[in-house]
Amino acid sequence: MVHAHREGHELAEQVRQGPVGVRPAGPEDAEFLVDMLLQCVNWSGEERYTRKQVLKDKATSLYVAGWQREGDLGLIAVDLAGPSGLQIPIGAAWLRRFPARNPGFGFVAEDVPELAMAVAPHQRGRGIGAGLLRSLATKAREQGIERISLSVEHGNPAKDLYTSLGFTTYSEQEKATTLVLDLRTSPLGQPAR
Ligand SMILES: CC(C)(COP(=O)(O)OP(=O)(O)OC[C@H]1O[C@@H](n2cnc3c(N)ncnc32)[C@H](O)[C@@H]1OP(=O)(O)O)[C@@H](O)C(=O)NCCC(=O)NCCS
Repeated sequence: MVHAHREGHELAEQVRQGPVGVRPAGPEDAEFLVDMLLQCVNWSGEERYTRKQVLKDKATSLYVAGWQREGDLGLIAVDLAGPSGLQIPIGAAWLRRFPARNPGFGFVAEDVPELAMAVAPHQRGRGIGAGLLRSLATKAREQGIERISLSVEHGNPAKDLYTSLGFTTYSEQEKATTLVLDLRTSPLGQPAR
Protein backbone atom coordinates (compact mmCIF):
# COMPACT_ATOMS: atom_id res chain seq x y z
CA MET A 1 0.00 0.00 0.00
CA VAL A 2 1.27 3.43 -0.86
CA HIS A 3 -0.47 5.09 2.02
CA ALA A 4 -1.82 4.00 5.32
CA HIS A 5 -5.32 5.37 5.54
CA ARG A 6 -7.56 2.73 6.94
CA GLU A 7 -10.13 3.53 4.27
CA GLY A 8 -7.51 3.09 1.55
CA HIS A 9 -6.85 -0.34 2.84
CA GLU A 10 -10.54 -1.21 2.84
CA LEU A 11 -11.02 0.07 -0.68
CA ALA A 12 -7.99 -1.80 -1.98
CA GLU A 13 -9.36 -5.05 -0.65
CA GLN A 14 -12.78 -4.60 -2.19
CA VAL A 15 -11.92 -3.15 -5.57
CA ARG A 16 -11.44 -5.45 -8.53
CA GLN A 17 -8.51 -5.23 -10.98
CA GLY A 18 -5.61 -3.30 -9.56
CA PRO A 19 -4.99 -1.26 -6.43
CA VAL A 20 -7.18 1.69 -5.60
CA GLY A 21 -6.81 3.85 -2.50
CA VAL A 22 -8.89 6.52 -0.89
CA ARG A 23 -7.96 9.80 0.76
CA PRO A 24 -9.91 12.69 2.23
CA ALA A 25 -10.91 15.42 -0.22
CA GLY A 26 -9.34 18.81 0.43
CA PRO A 27 -9.67 22.31 -1.05
CA GLU A 28 -7.19 21.31 -3.78
CA ASP A 29 -9.73 18.81 -5.10
CA ALA A 30 -12.32 21.44 -6.08
CA GLU A 31 -11.58 21.10 -9.81
CA PHE A 32 -11.80 17.34 -9.68
CA LEU A 33 -15.14 17.57 -7.87
CA VAL A 34 -16.41 19.76 -10.70
CA ASP A 35 -15.30 17.01 -13.13
CA MET A 36 -17.23 14.48 -11.08
CA LEU A 37 -20.28 16.72 -10.76
CA LEU A 38 -20.28 16.98 -14.54
CA GLN A 39 -20.39 13.18 -14.68
CA CYS A 40 -23.39 13.24 -12.34
CA VAL A 41 -25.46 15.69 -14.35
CA ASN A 42 -24.48 14.04 -17.64
CA TRP A 43 -24.93 10.49 -16.31
CA SER A 44 -27.00 9.40 -19.33
CA GLY A 45 -24.10 10.00 -21.71
CA GLU A 46 -25.86 12.94 -23.33
CA GLU A 47 -24.02 16.23 -22.75
CA ARG A 48 -26.81 18.10 -21.01
CA TYR A 49 -24.41 20.47 -19.26
CA THR A 50 -21.02 21.81 -20.21
CA ARG A 51 -18.51 22.49 -17.47
CA LYS A 52 -19.30 26.18 -17.78
CA GLN A 53 -23.04 25.60 -17.43
CA VAL A 54 -22.70 23.33 -14.42
CA LEU A 55 -20.80 26.09 -12.63
CA LYS A 56 -23.17 28.82 -13.74
CA ASP A 57 -26.44 27.09 -12.90
CA LYS A 58 -27.30 27.70 -9.25
CA ALA A 59 -29.05 24.35 -8.89
CA THR A 60 -25.94 22.40 -9.87
CA SER A 61 -23.10 24.66 -8.74
CA LEU A 62 -24.24 24.55 -5.13
CA TYR A 63 -22.74 21.07 -4.78
CA VAL A 64 -19.23 22.43 -5.32
CA ALA A 65 -19.39 26.21 -4.75
CA GLY A 66 -16.70 27.38 -2.36
CA TRP A 67 -15.38 23.88 -1.77
CA GLN A 68 -14.28 23.19 0.87
CA ARG A 69 -16.64 24.67 3.45
CA GLU A 70 -16.98 23.83 7.09
CA GLY A 71 -18.97 20.61 7.40
CA ASP A 72 -18.16 19.38 3.89
CA LEU A 73 -16.94 15.81 3.92
CA GLY A 74 -15.46 14.15 0.86
CA LEU A 75 -13.35 11.21 -0.23
CA ILE A 76 -11.28 10.78 -3.37
CA ALA A 77 -10.54 7.37 -4.87
CA VAL A 78 -7.05 7.25 -6.36
CA ASP A 79 -5.45 4.85 -8.80
CA LEU A 80 -2.38 3.41 -7.08
CA ALA A 81 -1.21 1.50 -10.14
CA GLY A 82 -0.02 4.61 -12.00
CA PRO A 83 3.63 5.27 -12.83
CA SER A 84 6.05 6.70 -10.23
CA GLY A 85 3.58 6.34 -7.41
CA LEU A 86 1.29 8.98 -8.91
CA GLN A 87 -2.07 8.82 -7.20
CA ILE A 88 -4.44 9.85 -9.96
CA PRO A 89 -7.96 10.72 -8.80
CA ILE A 90 -10.54 8.41 -10.38
CA GLY A 91 -13.64 8.94 -8.30
CA ALA A 92 -15.20 10.99 -5.54
CA ALA A 93 -18.05 10.90 -3.06
CA TRP A 94 -18.88 13.93 -1.02
CA LEU A 95 -21.43 15.27 1.46
CA ARG A 96 -22.69 18.80 1.90
CA ARG A 97 -25.53 20.24 3.99
CA PHE A 98 -27.90 22.78 2.48
CA PRO A 99 -30.20 25.32 4.07
CA ALA A 100 -33.94 24.86 3.48
CA ARG A 101 -34.07 28.20 1.63
CA ASN A 102 -31.46 26.99 -0.87
CA PRO A 103 -31.81 23.21 -1.04
CA GLY A 104 -30.15 20.62 -3.25
CA PHE A 105 -32.16 18.26 -5.47
CA GLY A 106 -32.25 15.61 -2.73
CA PHE A 107 -32.98 17.89 0.21
CA VAL A 108 -34.57 16.19 3.21
CA ALA A 109 -33.59 18.34 6.20
CA GLU A 110 -30.92 20.85 7.09
CA ASP A 111 -29.04 18.36 9.24
CA VAL A 112 -29.07 15.67 6.55
CA PRO A 113 -26.16 16.17 4.14
CA GLU A 114 -26.63 15.34 0.51
CA LEU A 115 -24.41 12.92 -1.31
CA ALA A 116 -22.91 13.47 -4.73
CA MET A 117 -20.65 10.89 -6.31
CA ALA A 118 -19.10 9.73 -9.56
CA VAL A 119 -16.37 7.47 -10.83
CA ALA A 120 -14.38 8.21 -14.00
CA PRO A 121 -16.11 6.42 -16.91
CA HIS A 122 -13.31 3.95 -17.73
CA GLN A 123 -13.02 2.93 -14.08
CA ARG A 124 -16.64 1.97 -13.46
CA GLY A 125 -17.86 -1.48 -12.53
CA ARG A 126 -14.78 -2.29 -10.41
CA GLY A 127 -16.40 -1.74 -7.04
CA ILE A 128 -14.95 1.75 -6.58
CA GLY A 129 -18.33 3.41 -6.12
CA ALA A 130 -19.39 0.90 -3.48
CA GLY A 131 -16.02 1.18 -1.75
CA LEU A 132 -16.23 4.97 -1.65
CA LEU A 133 -19.72 4.82 -0.17
CA ARG A 134 -18.67 2.34 2.47
CA SER A 135 -15.73 4.50 3.52
CA LEU A 136 -17.81 7.67 3.46
CA ALA A 137 -20.44 6.04 5.68
CA THR A 138 -17.73 5.26 8.23
CA LYS A 139 -16.45 8.84 8.18
CA ALA A 140 -19.93 10.31 8.35
CA ARG A 141 -20.79 8.22 11.37
CA GLU A 142 -17.58 9.36 13.08
CA GLN A 143 -18.80 12.93 12.61
CA GLY A 144 -22.18 12.20 14.15
CA ILE A 145 -24.10 12.31 10.87
CA GLU A 146 -27.25 10.22 11.23
CA ARG A 147 -28.70 10.29 7.74
CA ILE A 148 -27.52 10.91 4.20
CA SER A 149 -29.80 11.79 1.29
CA LEU A 150 -29.47 12.04 -2.46
CA SER A 151 -31.48 12.55 -5.59
CA VAL A 152 -31.20 10.10 -8.45
CA GLU A 153 -32.95 10.60 -11.76
CA HIS A 154 -35.29 7.92 -13.08
CA GLY A 155 -33.37 5.53 -15.30
CA ASN A 156 -29.97 6.13 -13.73
CA PRO A 157 -28.58 2.68 -12.86
CA ALA A 158 -26.73 4.30 -9.95
CA LYS A 159 -30.01 3.80 -8.07
CA ASP A 160 -29.38 0.05 -8.01
CA LEU A 161 -26.04 0.64 -6.32
CA TYR A 162 -27.63 2.84 -3.66
CA THR A 163 -30.50 0.49 -2.92
CA SER A 164 -28.16 -2.51 -2.79
CA LEU A 165 -26.23 -0.66 -0.08
CA GLY A 166 -29.32 0.11 1.99
CA PHE A 167 -30.66 3.44 0.72
CA THR A 168 -34.46 3.57 0.77
CA THR A 169 -36.99 5.77 -1.01
CA TYR A 170 -37.86 8.95 0.85
CA SER A 171 -39.95 10.61 -1.86
CA GLU A 172 -40.66 10.39 -5.56
CA GLN A 173 -40.66 13.33 -7.93
CA GLU A 174 -41.60 13.51 -11.57
CA LYS A 175 -38.03 13.08 -12.79
CA ALA A 176 -36.15 11.69 -9.80
CA THR A 177 -36.27 9.77 -6.56
CA THR A 178 -34.93 11.04 -3.25
CA LEU A 179 -33.20 8.27 -1.32
CA VAL A 180 -32.04 8.22 2.28
CA LEU A 181 -29.54 6.09 4.15
CA ASP A 182 -30.05 5.91 7.89
CA LEU A 183 -26.62 5.40 9.41
CA ARG A 184 -28.10 4.62 12.82
CA THR A 185 -29.50 1.35 11.51
CA SER A 186 -27.43 0.67 8.39
CA PRO A 187 -24.49 -1.75 8.59
CA LEU A 188 -22.76 0.13 5.74
CA GLY A 189 -19.23 1.05 6.75
CA GLN A 190 -19.55 -0.49 10.20
CA PRO A 191 -16.51 -2.48 11.31
CA ALA A 192 -16.98 -6.20 10.61
CA ARG A 193 -17.81 -8.18 13.72
C1 LIG B 1 -22.84 5.48 -9.98
C2 LIG B 1 -21.34 5.27 -10.07
C3 LIG B 1 -20.65 6.27 -9.16
C4 LIG B 1 -21.01 3.85 -9.60
O1 LIG B 1 -19.62 3.70 -9.56
P1 LIG B 1 -18.93 2.31 -9.88
O2 LIG B 1 -17.52 2.38 -9.42
O3 LIG B 1 -19.18 1.90 -11.27
O4 LIG B 1 -19.79 1.36 -8.91
P2 LIG B 1 -19.47 -0.12 -8.45
O5 LIG B 1 -18.53 -0.78 -9.42
O6 LIG B 1 -19.10 -0.10 -7.03
O7 LIG B 1 -20.91 -0.74 -8.52
C5 LIG B 1 -21.49 -1.01 -9.74
C6 LIG B 1 -22.99 -1.07 -9.51
O8 LIG B 1 -23.56 0.22 -9.75
C7 LIG B 1 -24.75 0.08 -10.51
N1 LIG B 1 -24.49 0.84 -11.73
C8 LIG B 1 -24.24 2.16 -11.71
N2 LIG B 1 -24.09 2.64 -12.95
C9 LIG B 1 -24.21 1.62 -13.79
C10 LIG B 1 -24.16 1.49 -15.20
N3 LIG B 1 -23.95 2.53 -16.02
N4 LIG B 1 -24.33 0.28 -15.74
C11 LIG B 1 -24.54 -0.79 -14.94
N5 LIG B 1 -24.61 -0.71 -13.60
C12 LIG B 1 -24.44 0.46 -13.02
C13 LIG B 1 -25.01 -1.38 -10.67
O9 LIG B 1 -25.89 -1.76 -9.62
C14 LIG B 1 -23.66 -2.02 -10.45
O10 LIG B 1 -23.74 -3.25 -9.82
P3 LIG B 1 -23.12 -4.58 -10.52
O11 LIG B 1 -21.66 -4.27 -10.75
O12 LIG B 1 -23.35 -5.65 -9.52
O13 LIG B 1 -23.91 -4.72 -11.78
C15 LIG B 1 -20.84 5.41 -11.54
O14 LIG B 1 -21.61 4.55 -12.35
C16 LIG B 1 -20.94 6.82 -12.07
O15 LIG B 1 -20.02 7.61 -11.91
N6 LIG B 1 -22.04 7.15 -12.78
C17 LIG B 1 -22.22 8.47 -13.38
C18 LIG B 1 -22.44 9.54 -12.35
C19 LIG B 1 -23.69 9.28 -11.57
O16 LIG B 1 -24.72 8.88 -12.11
N7 LIG B 1 -23.60 9.55 -10.27
C20 LIG B 1 -24.71 9.39 -9.38
C21 LIG B 1 -25.63 10.56 -9.47
S1 LIG B 1 -27.01 10.33 -8.39
